[in-house]
Amino acid sequence: MPVSKLPVSLSTSRGKIVHGDSQQFCTNELKEKSVNLIMTSPPFGLVRKKTYGNADSYLYLDWFRPFATAFKRVLKDNGSLVIDIGGAWISGQPTRSLYHFKLLIMLCEEFGFHLAQEFFWWNPAKLPTPAEWVTVRRIRVKDAFNCIWWLSPTPWPKADNRRVLQPYSDSMKGLLKNGYKAKLRPSGHDISTKFSINNGASIPPNLIAVANTESNGYYLRYCKENNIKPHDARYPSAVPEYFIRMLTDPGDLVVDPFAGSCVTGEVAERLKRKWVCVELEQNFIKGARGRFVNPKTEKVAQSPLFEVEKKDGDYYKVPRPGLLWNGYHGEPLSEDGGKKRKISKKKADASAKATANL
Ligand SMILES: C[S@@+](CC[C@H](N)C(=O)[O-])C[C@H]1O[C@@H](n2cnc3c(N)ncnc32)[C@H](O)[C@@H]1O
Repeated sequence: MPVSKLPVSLSTSRGKIVHGDSQQFCTNELKEKSVNLIMTSPPFGLVRKKTYGNADSYLYLDWFRPFATAFKRVLKDNGSLVIDIGGAWISGQPTRSLYHFKLLIMLCEEFGFHLAQEFFWWNPAKLPTPAEWVTVRRIRVKDAFNCIWWLSPTPWPKADNRRVLQPYSDSMKGLLKNGYKAKLRPSGHDISTKFSINNGASIPPNLIAVANTESNGYYLRYCKENNIKPHDARYPSAVPEYFIRMLTDPGDLVVDPFAGSCVTGEVAERLKRKWVCVELEQNFIKGARGRFVNPKTEKVAQSPLFEVEKKDGDYYKVPRPGLLWNGYHGEPLSEDGGKKRKISKKKADASAKATANL
């Protein structure tokens, strides 16, 4: 029986938004070894709705397995699978689920993917949640980064870090200006004089610092004008932009199988890559149109597709740990880990409400 094609909700000269299940799409509608990059952020709500203990991690893995099979089939040998995934707290106790680490291990050990590199996306604007553990009992710190697993079917995915260079730090500029004495570092690394060659920019670490506060001008305006609720789990365009530029060339094919508001598609369009975004929920697709159509004419907008703002958030400074410490140890730590710490009813209610909304 021929497989029915999934409906295309929007198309541009380079890409399209497909409405439906991406597992079905990747299995039936994409050719084997045809995709250069799968750039995506799968739903992590799946575990949140449950209790995110060990059993739920396994449910997540079971849910993901058919997608993993489909992704492995369609990726080129030198292609990449990049997964942005947030962590989760185990309900009712101050400990973390292992589900996203188990996903990584499953993809490598069961499906034969290689971990090219793990990245951490730090969102400096993240609120201090869950309130119960962070602001009420004060026994945990803010959970402010997502893991980004960069995987590949072979150990040699196409990649070039010169696409994602960053400005030199002030201290590096100082070294370049005043010269650097070649010497053995305490770590045992022998830093040669080559270190002081000015290459114009530095190689970034595997930490991506970007606040999730992007204005998304076109998108949000379109949602507002059309009375559509914006997607509430969007990633900032800087995340897919980084990987699309580092791992693909113009004309290559980028697929986002959990497209949400289609940030990936918008970035791929701007970077002149071919792209497909697949999304299950019609309502999210309705909003995603706002990234591609001119709200006045409803015609596909060519450029500019989004506004790049230069502002304070272009640079972040992270204080050295212990900067505020004055040598005083404070009250003795509670031997029960804060379990029985008394909190006022008002605070308890507020924190229960805050954690319930996570
Ligand atoms: C975390 S969101 C992605 C958000 C997106 N990165 C953005 O910035 O807008 C995950 C999305 O995957 C969609 N989804 C879940 N299962 C799917 C499936 N089987 N096929 C296609 N989309 C799916 C959900 O509806 C949700 O919008």
